[in-house]
Amino acid sequence: MKKFYITTPVYYVNDVPHIGHTYTTIAADVLARWHRELGEEVFFLTGTDEHGAKIETKAKEMKLEPKQYADKIADAFKEAWQELNISHDGFLRTTGEAHIKAVQKALRFMHDKGDIYLSKYEGLYCRGCEQYKSERDLIDGMCQDHKIAPEKMSEECYTFKLSKYQDELLEKIKNDELQILPLNRKNEIVSFYEKEGLADVSFSRKNVNWGIPIPWDKSHTVYVWADAFLNYLTGLGWDGATPFNKGGKGDLKFWPPSVQLMSKDILRVHATIWPAMLLSLGLPLPKKIFIHGYFQVNGQKMGKSLGNAIAPSDLIKKYGVDAARYLIMGATAFGHDGDISWEKFNDKYNADLANGLGNLAARVSNLLETNKIGLDLEVGSDKKLIKKYAENMQAFKFDEALKILWEKLRAGDTVLSD
Ligand code: MSP
Repeated sequence: MKKFYITTPVYYVNDVPHIGHTYTTIAADVLARWHRELGEEVFFLTGTDEHGAKIETKAKEMKLEPKQYADKIADAFKEAWQELNISHDGFLRTTGEAHIKAVQKALRFMHDKGDIYLSKYEGLYCRGCEQYKSERDLIDGMCQDHKIAPEKMSEECYTFKLSKYQDELLEKIKNDELQILPLNRKNEIVSFYEKEGLADVSFSRKNVNWGIPIPWDKSHTVYVWADAFLNYLTGLGWDGATPFNKGGKGDLKFWPPSVQLMSKDILRVHATIWPAMLLSLGLPLPKKIFIHGYFQVNGQKMGKSLGNAIAPSDLIKKYGVDAARYLIMGATAFGHDGDISWEKFNDKYNADLANGLGNLAARVSNLLETNKIGLDLEVGSDKKLIKKYAENMQAFKFDEALKILWEKLRAGDTVLSD
C-alpha cells in the first residue's frame, strides 16, 4: 500500500496556539485526509518543541518549572487540535523520555563519526529564533522576525560539520531529490547556498540548562534545533539506531516524509541543518518541503505582545469548527503570504458559506420538503471534475480545488433559478 507521511513543525510552547500554527496544522490535516481518501496508508505527525533558552526564560517569567510550564502549553495545543478535528496519528513532545534517549544516541553517533567536534562559538544569537545570526541577517542590528537585538555569545561548544554537506545538499536540492516548493522558495535556498554557503554550526549550549544533556559531556545541553528536528524521526518510534532501514530495531515503514509543511520563517534551517543531519546519520532525506504563506493581521506581525493574535477557539466560537477550518484554509492562495482580519473572515463567511452554500442548501431542502421528494445522490459521478480536483490537490493548489467545487455549486444555483 502506498505510504504518505506528513509533518508539521513541532511548535514552541512559549505561546498558546494561534491562527498561524492552526493554518499549518489544518493544511496538514486536509492533505492527510485526502491521502487517506485515496486509499494510502497515512501517518500525520505534529507536536511541541519544549526545550531551549526561550522556554527556560518564559517558564521563569511564569514562575513555573520549565516542565510544568511545558505540560500546560502542550495540553493547550492538544486541546486546540481536538477542537479543530485534527486527525493526527502522532503528537510528539520533545521532553518525552524516548525522544530524549534517541536524540542522545543520534548525537553520539554523529560525534563518533567525527561530524561533531569541540570548538568555540563567538557571535550573535537570537533567542526568539533560537538561531545563530550573522551581521548579514540583521537590519539596524535587529533580528527582523523578532525585532530584538541578538545577544553576544562566546562559548565553548560542540560544533556540527555542516560545511561538509554543502555540495551534496545543493546538488540534491537543485535536482529535486529534496524538493522545495513553491519554486520561488527553492530558488531562494539555492541562492543562499551559492552566495553564502554553509558554515559549521554550534550543536550544544553551556549556558542553557533546559535541554537534553550531551551524552559524553553533561556540562553541555543539545542545541534546541538539533533536538527538535529529530522529532520527525522519533515521532514514528525511532530509537536513534542508524541506519534503521535495514530491518534493524529502529525500522520505520513511513520514513522518509512525503511532505513537510511549514512557513518561510523556518525554511532555511530545514533546508540546511536538518537534511545535513540526515546525511550524517545515513538516512534518506524528506521528499518534499512545502512552504505555505505567512499570515499577518491587519498588516502587522501576529503576536501576543501586539495583542492581535487570533486564537482558533475564538474562530470556532464564532463560526463553528468546519466553517473556521474553511475560513483559515481559504484565507490566502496556498504558498502565498496574506493578511487576515476578523472583517475578512466575516465577509468570506457571509459570501461563501451563509449566502453561497447555505443558501443553496436551504433552497434545495425547501424544494424537496415542499414537494415531498427524496434524492438518490450518486457520489463521484463526474470523473472529469474529480480528476481536475485531484490534480490541484496533488499540486497543493487548495484554492483551485475549491474553485472547482464552487463552480459546481453555482451551476446548482443557476438550475434552481431557471
Ligand atoms: N519550534 C520551531 C519549529 C521546529 S520544527 C523541527 C518553531 N516553532 S513555532 O511555534 O514558531 O512555529 C513556526 C511555524 O508555525 C511556522 O513555520 C508555521 O508553520 C506556523 N506559523 C506560525 N506563525 C505563522 C503565521 N503568522 N502565518 C503562517 N504560519 C505561521 O519555529
